[in-house]
Amino acid sequence: MTTATTTRARLPLDPAQAGAGLDRDLITVTTRGPTVFVDGQGSWLTDTDGKRHLDLVQGWAVNSLGHSPTVVAQALARQSGRLLNAGPAFHNQPMLDLAARLVGLSCFDRVWFGSTGAEVNEAAVKLARRWGQRQRGGAHEVISFDGAFHGRTLAMMSACGKPGWDRVFAPMPTGFAKARYNDIGSVERAITPASVAVMIELVQGEGGVNLADPGFVRELRALTAERQLLLIADEVQTGIGRCGRSFAHELFDIEPDVMTLAKGIGGGVPLAALLCKERFNCFAPGDQGGTFGGNPLMAAVGLAVVDTVCQDGFLAQVRQRAGHLARGLQSIVRDHGLVAERGAGLLRALVLPTDTAHLVVAAAQALSPVGLLLNAPRPHLLRLMPALTITDDEIDQALHLLRRALRAGMG
Ligand SMILES: Cc1ncc(COP(=O)(O)O)c(C=O)c1O
Repeated sequence: MTTATTTRARLPLDPAQAGAGLDRDLITVTTRGPTVFVDGQGSWLTDTDGKRHLDLVQGWAVNSLGHSPTVVAQALARQSGRLLNAGPAFHNQPMLDLAARLVGLSCFDRVWFGSTGAEVNEAAVKLARRWGQRQRGGAHEVISFDGAFHGRTLAMMSACGKPGWDRVFAPMPTGFAKARYNDIGSVERAITPASVAVMIELVQGEGGVNLADPGFVRELRALTAERQLLLIADEVQTGIGRCGRSFAHELFDIEPDVMTLAKGIGGGVPLAALLCKERFNCFAPGDQGGTFGGNPLMAAVGLAVVDTVCQDGFLAQVRQRAGHLARGLQSIVRDHGLVAERGAGLLRALVLPTDTAHLVVAAAQALSPVGLLLNAPRPHLLRLMPALTITDDEIDQALHLLRRALRAGMG
């Protein structure tokens, strides 16, 4: 019987259908190669041909504990056999437990759960606007930074600092102003009576692993406090151990007023959180919500991830592995004539002398018998965001593969 269903079911395994054929039923939003991954364990992915790939992308830094970690699989199995979703209008125990854990771990007092980074960032902007209505005579404008990435909803595209993104689906939500990263004078100039918050990634991920200058961050904290502006830290990419501390703002020794988390907190499943100090806990019932927000299944996973990252010695090990990776990357910079290596914890980048990052990414994946998965958020920059559980031996293998990929990709 040749039904459409049978044909589709065979598609991913048919090499003749590789590439564009695989996208037949998908709305095209990105360019994907012909590889189909079927299995993931720790730092390794296996494709339909049985080829293994050492994964330094990890779902764009979402698999904080690597692929299919036992604690996540167990939490999913346990919770899915008990309660999937009672609905956001009711309490559930995993949501309460995870909120308590995050409050205990951080400088924040309150938590709201969502599913994606863009969603909680938008919730942070709504919280700031609500606070502005109540406390600051209707101040509503949020200052964000050149090079920033906060997500792909319409409002978050307005907040992003990617050139042109604030016009691409015009009319776009207004109420966002831009300042220059690491330039406190530009923040001062952007402040108007309508300003209510400053939103910042302390390490810009998509922008190219750009680190905030510690002096700038301290001045920003002081300036926002003095001018009654909320300081919102977007820790969607940097939070939950990625930078070697529970949260990246600890590296700068400051306390934001609001923080957003996603990616790593879910260990691979859709979970996100908005956290705020009590002073800014100003949503009225109905202001914010979502049917999946705080569902017990994702919250149980979040709890397993946070508990693992909080175990004695876990973050010290992340810092040790990050040092090992950074030293290896520095020697690659020297040997291959690259521009620089930089990063915080296990969020790192290699700056290339030419716009060949996409060629290196392709060459790395094509390596045989084992491929290497890298990411190129900028034409001249490779980003590495391995599992926090990557081993020293896997780092050494990755560095060896990276050298081969650079030779093949950069010529
Ligand atoms: C700093 C930052 N904020 C927000 C987002 C958006 O998160 P999501 O894709 O879960 O909406 C990302 C995603 O890359 C991010 O890196």
